[in-house]
Amino acid sequence: MTGSGSPVSVRDVDIRFGDFVAVRQANLDIGAGEFVCLLGPSGCGKSTLLNAIAGFVTPVDGEVTCGDTRVTGPDVSRGVVFQSAEALFPWLTVRQNVAFGPRMRGVGKAQRATAVDRYLAMVGLSHSADRFPAQLSGGMRQRAQLARVLANEPSVVLMDEPFGALDAQTRLVMQVELDRIWRETGATIVFVTHDIGEAILLADRIVTMTAGPSAGIKNIYPCDLPRPRDLTDPASAALFRQLREDIGAEVARTLRAQGLDDGHDGRATGDPAGRPAGAGTVEPSSPGVNGTRVADGDRRALR
Ligand SMILES: Nc1ncnc2c1ncn2[C@@H]1O[C@H](COP(=O)(O)OP(=O)(O)OP(=O)(O)O)[C@@H](O)[C@H]1O
Ligand SMILES: [Mg+2]
Repeated sequence: MTGSGSPVSVRDVDIRFGDFVAVRQANLDIGAGEFVCLLGPSGCGKSTLLNAIAGFVTPVDGEVTCGDTRVTGPDVSRGVVFQSAEALFPWLTVRQNVAFGPRMRGVGKAQRATAVDRYLAMVGLSHSADRFPAQLSGGMRQRAQLARVLANEPSVVLMDEPFGALDAQTRLVMQVELDRIWRETGATIVFVTHDIGEAILLADRIVTMTAGPSAGIKNIYPCDLPRPRDLTDPASAALFRQLREDIGAEVARTLRAQGLDDGHDGRATGDPAGRPAGAGTVEPSSPGVNGTRVADGDRRALR
């Protein structure tokens, strides 16, 4: 069984790729066992920040710590689930994929088999253990990836748009499953998504990022709505609108920087309950928001 999650700390982190400053002065403290979602416009630096926590990229300034340890490279204690299921070894069965990490760590055969069975059952893949990745659906591949990461009993699970390639229904099922698995393992989860609704369904806190270059943490929204969550609930809908405006301002900034702001005068989209914009408006309930308004033309980018 996965031990309790580790806290993660991002302190004054700057990340560069050559002369390009991707992230500047990012600061974020994530509690042990917390579920944090990173939201931001495409290209702002979400994956870059996640990769710094994973140890795949090294900050030029500042530091990332996990527990009491400074992150200096990848480690099995920080498991990564990628968007693409190609992360699975195609020549190994699901069972062999999940057993791979424990085998590399020298876990004995009997203990390995118990762990593999446990995590395959946890993600609902026991019946497909002897299939190869090519014989699985997209959702099943993502379950297999998650089981493979969990088999290493990580204290932190880093997920980069893991459900981004799934259809809406499968995605919904996976979100519910992940919520359950997170509670069952106690791991800390940092989850990157473009999907505001997904963040509201899953997160303890939702962290928005500013548009890059030199992206940083913009706002942090506590999300303590009772679980399982319902996006049609008024408090969820209010948070949805807040986040849409927050991210929308950054998308608009990105589009302007790219010379793509055409001044379209589109109307605001409705809320997740399907009501038209402005209907049944609920006052925002989450603190720490700068209240940036989004021009009508900019909202187009949010759909
Ligand atoms: N290895 C790299 N070399 C050079 N630039 C990079 C590299 N990785 C990322 N970048 C740049 O850093 C910025 C942030 O990229 P990143 O992939 O973190 O964005 P993102 O927020 O994850 O975007 P998306 O939502 O589209 O996945 C982008 O401008 C990107 O071009
Ligand atoms: Mg990314």
